[in-house]
Amino acid sequence: MKIDLSKPDGGRVVDYWLGGHHNFLIDRQVAHQVEAALPDMPESQRMHREFLKRAVTFLVKEKGLNRFIDFGSGLPTCGNIHEAVLALDPSARVVYSDISPTTVAYGREILAITNPHNVRYEQCDAGRPEELLTSTAVREMLGEERRVGIGFSLLPHLLIDEDLAHALKALYEWAEEGSHIILSFVNEQIYQHPDLFRVLKGRGEIFPRSKDEFLALLGKWRVTEHGIVPATVWPEDRPVTGISDRCNCACLGYK
Ligand SMILES: C[S@@+](CC[C@H](N)C(=O)[O-])C[C@H]1O[C@@H](n2cnc3c(N)ncnc32)[C@H](O)[C@@H]1O
Repeated sequence: MKIDLSKPDGGRVVDYWLGGHHNFLIDRQVAHQVEAALPDMPESQRMHREFLKRAVTFLVKEKGLNRFIDFGSGLPTCGNIHEAVLALDPSARVVYSDISPTTVAYGREILAITNPHNVRYEQCDAGRPEELLTSTAVREMLGEERRVGIGFSLLPHLLIDEDLAHALKALYEWAEEGSHIILSFVNEQIYQHPDLFRVLKGRGEIFPRSKDEFLALLGKWRVTEHGIVPATVWPEDRPVTGISDRCNCACLGYK
């Protein structure tokens, strides 16, 4: 894949904050601009990856899941879910997806260096998950298995209400009982932090939601006993100090 080094990429900026090697000068310049306004951004990104690891570990160890489908995956570097899943169960399978063709192409290159056998990367608009659920990749990777872990992290706030409600309903209907979905999203506290709001909006439109607004779109998914709490402290519910952490909620849904 030919990379345009004159344009920053959101996934590579995050990779830089996570301590990865898949970023370029232009990405680091953007990262430093953001950090000037929001010094806690890198730490917050690292803590969100730690949340993903805790959530996935819970699903593998406590719920016995070893088939995962992930939406809006970004770049599979530094603590993305396949690392935690495969470390716990080497026979597990993970299908990543993203709406961005560049992210998908770059993600495939990264995976080709590491583990192409257990992990695939496909293009899909999370607002239309049927595209991925009926794909050859999912058929080949999951077979008939429908009891799965679904990743939907740092994604709900990128979808309008109608698409989010549709996606969650379609996933619920497709999945078998025992399936779980990992959800984390930007909440309404963001409006109190204009610098952060501006940074996030700079990457595209976002739709922050309160817990109640989010629950209204969750459909039949039920929230685990951990509730909806700041992602960086999940599964506990305790106060957080960082600005970015206050603006981020997470929960696990189950069928
Ligand atoms: C903030 S990153 C989240 C990465 C990862 N899920 C995580 O939790 O660290 C959001 C990703 O969602 C992708 N995205 C945005 N809108 C999307 C959509 N409608 N469908 C699928 N992916 C989308 C972006 O391209 C980006 O890679």
